[in-house]
Amino acid sequence: MANKNLNQAKNAKKDEFYTQLVDIENELRHYREHFRGKTVLCNCDDPRVSNFFHYFSYNFEQLGLKKLITTCYKSQERDLFSQHDSERAIWLEYTGDRNGNRVPDPEEIGINYLKGDGDFRSSECIELLKQADIVVTNPPFSLFREYVAQLFEYNKKFIIIGPYNAITYKEIFPLIKDNRLWLGYGFKAGNAYFKIPKASSHDYAEGVYDASTGLVKFRNCTWYTNIDIKKRHEELIFYKQYSSEEYFHYDNYDAINVDRVTDIPIDYFGVMGVPITFLDCYNPSQFNIIKFRKGNDEKDLSINGKCPYFRILVQRKNNFDIQDEQQLIAAES
Ligand SMILES: C[S@@+](CC[C@H](N)C(=O)[O-])C[C@H]1O[C@@H](n2cnc3c(N)ncnc32)[C@H](O)[C@@H]1O
Repeated sequence: MANKNLNQAKNAKKDEFYTQLVDIENELRHYREHFRGKTVLCNCDDPRVSNFFHYFSYNFEQLGLKKLITTCYKSQERDLFSQHDSERAIWLEYTGDRNGNRVPDPEEIGINYLKGDGDFRSSECIELLKQADIVVTNPPFSLFREYVAQLFEYNKKFIIIGPYNAITYKEIFPLIKDNRLWLGYGFKAGNAYFKIPKASSHDYAEGVYDASTGLVKFRNCTWYTNIDIKKRHEELIFYKQYSSEEYFHYDNYDAINVDRVTDIPIDYFGVMGVPITFLDCYNPSQFNIIKFRKGNDEKDLSINGKCPYFRILVQRKNNFDIQDEQQLIAAES
């Protein structure tokens, strides 16, 4: 029991890092047209530290939002984080500027008290979720699976930050494969910098925390969304020719191994195992995702008995497929 509590406390501590405004702006500029007339929910966001709340309240009119709702989680472990010092969890509601100064003034923001601790899974938070059109936040990574499952259960659009390796989770990969969830634009050069509570700075390895900025650097997170973005329609251009000497065949799947996305051969239309980074530039009109990591025998894909890094099995759609799909889209619209 003591161990379980300790682990929970550790996880809670690890979940406490705050997204920078610049990163929110960089990602959300690609989705601007989707916000008009919409209710946005940030449901893991203490407004005192959340730049998501800041971004949406200050850009409320520009984005043409209908409503912004933010809920703030109050940790069970009150000693851990200095910012979790309010007696009760709160939720805020902002419906835009009323006095014409284009700034969200305190008297324009409705502050409401929650009965519980603001857990996104609580019934009162789910009631707020039901009101939302788009959910945008950086949720606790330790609860990422549950968080995403809930978004799908309530059929919500979302733009959220998550661990990069969530791609490999058995609950997440099928959603990617079925084109129900995909990667957003991501962080500049894959480097994400987050603010952390000062008290937890010593929990990070040297080189991860920079005392002069108060930021930690993570290379293991990205943005996930189910909102259509331009990037998803950009075609990847290849230049290499296939040769059986250069591209090894797997022992346990009828597919070739490709070590870098840029090395995908231009003239190969069979199944290929590509690195996970392929998903950063995946265009569903150009490729089908077949399977993750395992061969026909359900063991890791191997070449002469050795397993390369995790691979995603994909297959290029031929031009006929693309034309077909375009005709289908045209027919449906
Ligand atoms: C990674 S931090 C991000 C905070 C904020 N969204 C941001 O991006 O700056 C995740 C936040 O979720 C909160 N949290 C943890 N468990 C939660 C839960 N069950 N329900 C709602 N929020 C939770 C944590 O307190 C933490 O502040």
